Amino acid sequence: MLMKIVEYPSPILKQSCNPVESVNADIRKLISDMFETMYAANGVGLAAPQVGIQKNIVVIDVGRLENEQTKPDPIAIINPTFESQEGKITWEEGCLSLPELIVPMERSAKVIVNALNADGKAVKILGEQLLAVALQHEIDHLEGILLVDRLSRLKRELYRKKQSKRSTLEETIAPPSNPVGKPYLG
Ligand code: NI
Repeated sequence: MLMKIVEYPSPILKQSCNPVESVNADIRKLISDMFETMYAANGVGLAAPQVGIQKNIVVIDVGRLENEQTKPDPIAIINPTFESQEGKITWEEGCLSLPELIVPMERSAKVIVNALNADGKAVKILGEQLLAVALQHEIDHLEGILLVDRLSRLKRELYRKKQSKRSTLEETIAPPSNPVGKPYLG
């Protein structure tokens, strides 16, 4: 079932999420709906608060951006915590909840995340390159942190003003341009 993606400045996106206590059929259905919604929006990642659910759940599929064969590589991540973060990488990031924003963002280059998978089993996820970026972007969402919160105050204010105008001038604004290459969208 396709879900509606919550957009900035909805207060839902600013709240911290709660741990999943039991990985049951309802959680698996939610994960399946989140994947469907993410793929339909051409996203690479999606966090539960982006569909209005305050739970520590993330779905990611970097397969479609990372290789030419567009091989799917879906990962469901429940109750994630970082075990380690090292190095630095800069990636062009966008967010399905932040229309028209694509910005270079510095993140850790290599991360290890502990989580539960959709079967409720403990898993360790090693993320490098795009997967490292995606894990950090999506786990930020679970803590109520948006890409726009990581911009300078000036850039954040410009974006906020642009978005408040957009609600009245929606049809006149062009889609985002991306001169650098494939952006991360989640
Ligand atoms: Ni996002």
